[in-house]
Amino acid sequence: MNSPNSLAVVNCSQLVTLAGPRRPRIGREMRELAIIEDGAILVNKGLIKSVGARQAIEPLIDPNCIVVDAGGRVVMPGFVDAHTHPVFAGTRVDEYEQRSLGATYQEIAARGGGIPSTVKKTRESTSDELFHSCRQYSVWFLRTGTTTIEAKSGYGLSLEDELMILRVIRKLDDETQLRYVPTFLGAHDVPEEYRGRREDYVALVINEMLPTVVSGNLAEYCDVFCEEKVFTIEESRRILTKARSFGLGLRMHADQLSLSGGAKLAAELKATTADHLEHTDGEGISALNSAGVQPVLLPGSVYALGSTRYPAARAMIEAGLAVVLATDFNPGSSPTPSIPMILSLASTHLKMTPAEGVTATTINSAYSLGLGDQAGSLEVGKRADFVIHDCSDYREIAYFFGVEHAIATYAEGREAFRRD
Ligand code: NIG
Ligand code: FE
Repeated sequence: MNSPNSLAVVNCSQLVTLAGPRRPRIGREMRELAIIEDGAILVNKGLIKSVGARQAIEPLIDPNCIVVDAGGRVVMPGFVDAHTHPVFAGTRVDEYEQRSLGATYQEIAARGGGIPSTVKKTRESTSDELFHSCRQYSVWFLRTGTTTIEAKSGYGLSLEDELMILRVIRKLDDETQLRYVPTFLGAHDVPEEYRGRREDYVALVINEMLPTVVSGNLAEYCDVFCEEKVFTIEESRRILTKARSFGLGLRMHADQLSLSGGAKLAAELKATTADHLEHTDGEGISALNSAGVQPVLLPGSVYALGSTRYPAARAMIEAGLAVVLATDFNPGSSPTPSIPMILSLASTHLKMTPAEGVTATTINSAYSLGLGDQAGSLEVGKRADFVIHDCSDYREIAYFFGVEHAIATYAEGREAFRRD
């Protein structure tokens, strides 16, 4: 493993830096990647010390420095995946097969599948079992070029099980090279034992789960699955308002399966993000814009559910929203950890250019997690989270889909993955 102390990366066909204003990028800025042809980087103690053209950087390379030759390939910031559900037990491969035979996500949920089936398996697991199975997913993220993920709880739905999941997220953050930003999603579904008395479950989330999560410092954000048949606008407002009073940032699953007013609620509450938005209309988009809420678009779940209802990314970019793209990695609606797959879907179905896709999965997603000063671009003083992709033009990452382009991933200047 390379020393994090002093490292130089040379021979990059394109060094995709994303250098630019110290804020999320909007409109035409989303197409400006600040690429340095034949670029190089110097890293010291895990942070970026210099970035520039090879001729400018090479004279600064100390003889003791480890030199990484990128071999004429693309070097980019590590992807920042701003929406994942990475701690769950088992799979839902049986439901996937049923969907291939024509059943819908909602039909499967109505017959007792869906989120409750993952909740049951997760509750039956020990925290060690969960940690070991989910550590494998951290390797999947790193090998596809992701160095930071937002990680939601939400498959416990009891005080004890939600705490177990958040503690597993903390342990994964401590013990793997992937960085995790934790989000409390106790309001992911009403668990079976509360069916018929949902009001009691909302009270449990507000009065017991939130205070315990906050006092244990186990989450930075709170999220709610706001949907007519899951948590209503009023319930979501109560939960998120309480979360905000505890100092948590707000994220929301909004307008995923129907136009339920989720985007407007996110705007009213000045949430940090509103996620999904497949059904959001023009009014919702302008509400998000006026309130400065970042949309997090999740085309992997649209694709994997076999839907064609993709969110209106172009209208959002044209309205001036700082769009983010993420995987929504979860066992039900989006079993992919791959941002390159999301970049392909974004160009093909959301009509975002490859450059807009890169901005939405690096600098804009970093800002949506409060990490804009640490991650998402290759600029002096930021963490040396970077990836060598086996191509000479960054657009190939979206274009050649189904291929693992990353050949090496570095987190804070240390090699976190290398393909043999
Ligand atoms: O973001 N929408 C709610 N949550 C997930 C799906 C979770 C599951 O099916 O297990 C999503 O799509
Ligand atoms: Fe989700």
